[in-house]
Amino acid sequence: MHIRVESLTHIYARGTPAERVALRGVDLEIEPGERVGISGPTGSGKSTLVQHIAGLLTPAAGRVLLDGVPAHARTPEARARRRQVGLAFQFPEAQMFEVTVFREVAFGPRHLGLNADEIAARVRWALEMVGLDPDAFADRVPFALSGGEMRRVALAGILALKPQVLILDEPTAGLDPRGRADILARLRAWQEQTGATFILVSHHLDEMAGLVDRVVLLADGQVVADGPTRHILGDGDRLRSVGLSPPPGVVLLEALRAAGWPVRTDALVIEEIISEIVRCIER
Ligand SMILES: Nc1ncnc2c1ncn2[C@@H]1O[C@H](COP(=O)(O)OP(=O)(O)OP(=O)(O)O)[C@@H](O)[C@H]1O
Ligand SMILES: [Mg+2]
Repeated sequence: MHIRVESLTHIYARGTPAERVALRGVDLEIEPGERVGISGPTGSGKSTLVQHIAGLLTPAAGRVLLDGVPAHARTPEARARRRQVGLAFQFPEAQMFEVTVFREVAFGPRHLGLNADEIAARVRWALEMVGLDPDAFADRVPFALSGGEMRRVALAGILALKPQVLILDEPTAGLDPRGRADILARLRAWQEQTGATFILVSHHLDEMAGLVDRVVLLADGQVVADGPTRHILGDGDRLRSVGLSPPPGVVLLEALRAAGWPVRTDALVIEEIISEIVRCIER
């Protein structure tokens, strides 16, 4: 699916004393199958932007086009496009409303008009994809799960729809480090298998580094940088200027460079950082 965001402005609580402009004229284009990270400080408009891409909000100005169709329109074409966009909310409990985990994950597939066997197969597949044993979890009550389990169930519900576009808003909040690495590896494998468009919203730039090819930075409701992952995440000064902490590897290499080592500072994954250090030691 081709995504085009045109001069998008969003205003919350318009005309009240609490009025807040969350997006100011955002332009963005995402090609089918792209893997894009969206980052920016808290309150910069990330969640608002992805909810627009999913067609859940109405623009104050501008528009979002999904394959040329306005995302929030009340037409059958728009509804069909929106169904292909799976958004995992920042707060997963916001999207839990069924009485069992099975029903929760089955909700989307049921609305796709699949038969009972297909639905059951999709639910099993999706729970396994997110690392939950279907036999142990299918009958549990979603609200009685831990935060991390709830997040996995919410993700399973979205994967079960097999969307063309998967948007994850802070998907690893509430998970321990091993759980985070595990779920991200699974999502990455899914993206590679399906070629779906993958949009990851996160503050964890080191986590983002290995998962996306392009990064968009938002600050105060505007796009302040958009480019290849290494170019954006390897630039510690720019990240600090918008209030983000650069990935730890970048900080380490910057310190070595300040101490006189001739290292590049834009190495992002651990193997690259090590080889950059080894290269300098061996010189
Ligand atoms: N329902 C709402 N009503 C009023 N203002 C809101 C609402 N939701 C968000 N905002 C405001 O809009 C701005 C952008 O919010 P948004 O949630 O998009 O930011 P974010 O980049 O996702 O932040 P975070 O990193 O904390 O998740 C913020 O100033 C926020 O306070
Ligand atoms: Mg947010």
